[in-house]
Amino acid sequence: MPKKTVVDFMQMKKEGRKVVFLTAYDAMLARLEEEAGVDMILVGDSVGNTLLGYETTLPVTMEEMLIFTRAVRRGAPNTFVIGDMPFMSYQCSIREAVLNAGRFVKEAGADAIKLEGGRRVAPQVKAIAEAGMLVMGHIGLTPQSAAQFGGWRAQGRDAESALKLLEDAVALEEAGAFAVLVEGVPGAVTAEITRRLSIPVYGIGAGKPCDGQLLIVYDLLGLYEVFQPKFVKRYGHLAREVVAMLRQYAEEVRQGIFPGPEHDYGIPPDQLDRFRQAIAGGLPRSSE
Ligand code: KIV
Repeated sequence: MPKKTVVDFMQMKKEGRKVVFLTAYDAMLARLEEEAGVDMILVGDSVGNTLLGYETTLPVTMEEMLIFTRAVRRGAPNTFVIGDMPFMSYQCSIREAVLNAGRFVKEAGADAIKLEGGRRVAPQVKAIAEAGMLVMGHIGLTPQSAAQFGGWRAQGRDAESALKLLEDAVALEEAGAFAVLVEGVPGAVTAEITRRLSIPVYGIGAGKPCDGQLLIVYDLLGLYEVFQPKFVKRYGHLAREVVAMLRQYAEEVRQGIFPGPEHDYGIPPDQLDRFRQAIAGGLPRSSE
């Protein structure tokens, strides 16, 4: 299937066809996602929590994000890939935001970038879009600002904060974002944002009524068991299966069951005889 473009995503919104959106951080999973027909891949800074083992996304650097984005690009050459701008790669200045966005596109082959925040990052969104790049906004329970929310709390659960979210979404569209991602927000609020915006609105933990759904792939697979947000549906329990397989491997190694003869490369019998005769005749010295 040819890679989808921003034009396809606009058309899908118009026709009410949902975008299937997942995270990936490595070539192997990206390849499987492409094979499964995923429309859009986010190389999220959630790689900090998942692959890198940090407690938050805050320590993740630009250099790390570029490595993971390149890997995903190689694994899924025909899928729309979005690079996630890490903490402190866009907040300090508009110039830095444009330069770092450009690195995702130029050095890692990303089709678009995503950054967190509403009105307060509208100038960065505008400048990145004016430089010719596709920018996705991200509002709601944005992990890089979790400390300001007092932790991991759903957003937009009262009229005032719901209205602020809508204003943030409108500001992002006006600044030139091609799409907005809404995270950790009641579905009824996401529905109003989706209705109000002419660009696509995607959700993670933001209910059904939007233009597509994102999940963190390790949550979906049941690989990340540290914490399960309310909105996550696990389609399997890979972590348990992996541990069971690792235990079986350990048992077989300890009992001498693995490797079996079928795992041995083998050597032709005449070559083995010659080898043994050579040893019996005395091993050659390394200087001979
Ligand atoms: O980093 C990420 O995966 C994200 C999602 C949680 C939206 O930003």
